[in-house]
Amino acid sequence: MAKLYVNAKNRLGKINKEIYGHFSEHLGRCIYEGIYVGENSNIPNVNGMRTDVVEALKKLNIPVLRWPGGCFADEYHWKDGIGPKEKRKKMINTHWGGVVEDNSFGTHEFFELIKQLGCDAYINGNLGSGTVQEMSEWVEYMTFNGISPMADLRKENGNEEPWEVKYFGVGNENWGCGGNMRPEHYGNEYRRYQTYVRNYDPKKPIYKIACGANIDDYLWTEGVLATCTDTYGRKAKDFMNGLSLHYYTVPGTWEKKGSATDFDEKTYYVTLKKTLYMDTLIKNHGAIMDKYDPDKKIGLIIDEWGNWFDVEPGTNPGFLYQQNTMRDAIVAGINLNLFNKHCDRVKMANIAQMVNVLQSVILTDGDQMLLTPTYHVFDMYKYHQDAELLESSIDTEMIGLEDDNMVPNLCESVSIDKDGIINITITNLSATESYPVESIILEKVVNSVNAEIVTGNMKDYNDFDNTEKVMKESFNDINVNGNSLSFTIPACSVLHIAVK
Ligand code: AHR
Repeated sequence: MAKLYVNAKNRLGKINKEIYGHFSEHLGRCIYEGIYVGENSNIPNVNGMRTDVVEALKKLNIPVLRWPGGCFADEYHWKDGIGPKEKRKKMINTHWGGVVEDNSFGTHEFFELIKQLGCDAYINGNLGSGTVQEMSEWVEYMTFNGISPMADLRKENGNEEPWEVKYFGVGNENWGCGGNMRPEHYGNEYRRYQTYVRNYDPKKPIYKIACGANIDDYLWTEGVLATCTDTYGRKAKDFMNGLSLHYYTVPGTWEKKGSATDFDEKTYYVTLKKTLYMDTLIKNHGAIMDKYDPDKKIGLIIDEWGNWFDVEPGTNPGFLYQQNTMRDAIVAGINLNLFNKHCDRVKMANIAQMVNVLQSVILTDGDQMLLTPTYHVFDMYKYHQDAELLESSIDTEMIGLEDDNMVPNLCESVSIDKDGIINITITNLSATESYPVESIILEKVVNSVNAEIVTGNMKDYNDFDNTEKVMKESFNDINVNGNSLSFTIPACSVLHIAVK
């Protein structure tokens, strides 16, 4: 029997709701088709945003959405995406499939989308191929409430009031697609560009995010933070509020990543083992950050994470469209538990990407839409948003098929919300074994328990012929005895228990 201990009195810090953030890029069918179909589409929409997708996303309480990229961000010139649509510039999306980008979804459309979703904006600026002036004017256009060339232009385009830009990324992957820079060079460019990301409304200061490392590029983290520390006594925290990290789970190599649906048990465990590497990355980048920022003022912003597989056969390789199985649900469960547990440093995370690209929560096909197993995990974990992390631990054993790809069988995180409800999320990583668990909640009188689960075979997925193969179900087999909860967690499952 695996014991799960929860100490209801030991609160370890706030789990920022932004950990449950999403990412939407002008890539494949994410924005166009997946979210935005235009006002004249036959697909039901409100101001061009498809109603089915927006309604489903609203149920997840999405806190923040990152846009417009990704690699696209460092080639995006925002002025191409404003004004009358018929006059907007058409361009080639060189990064993603070489398709025509007609700029019909631009700044105004993005703010319409986040208004409909009820979430905050995370705009990613162009440092790679844009100018300081261009970035600075975008911020002025979006946020200045007064008379100025950019504010006047916004008003001419129909928006009298400014919008709130809560988060602003100064470049994306500038070690790669965002300009192939070295850390010191980027650090200097960052310092310059961010100077002109003005806080026009002092009551709503913009949270500035510097481009952080690719996976385990610790020299990047060190180099950027060192460059943002100077002899005038200024520290990195004086220039940035957040530093990003990108890490995707790729079971194979970048050339042959592996199929999203056709994989064996060995590859399943390799995928989970590689996902757990996120823990090492957070600790190691966190240790470097601690050196430059011991008070943890700078958030680690994991603004791209998730599974990256080969594209579905027959689809455009540049569109990164992949299916989503129970394996993805397990990967989501592991990552989200890790982010919760590292909430002292991880202040935001954005799964890549929201619809039709990489590890999506929603897939669409014409006017059809389905919810992926990953969607249901986000639906069950949403209760952790802005709750307080509680001390918890679970007994584990190592499982797997190969010595060097063993993983713990269970992982968990626990929080307490403002009403005193304790939310426990547990992931069973085993493809085949269920486990009895006894959960002991210390310092809490248990009045009632409610649970839900996503479970199935590791290769189960929803498609347009059967959109409900993997669903969230209620889980009633919990035996409550005082403050002890006993149950058996099924193989390959993600479980959420709410304790009142
Ligand atoms: O999410 C797809 C791409 O992955 C993003 O555009 C880029 O930032 C990363 O390499």
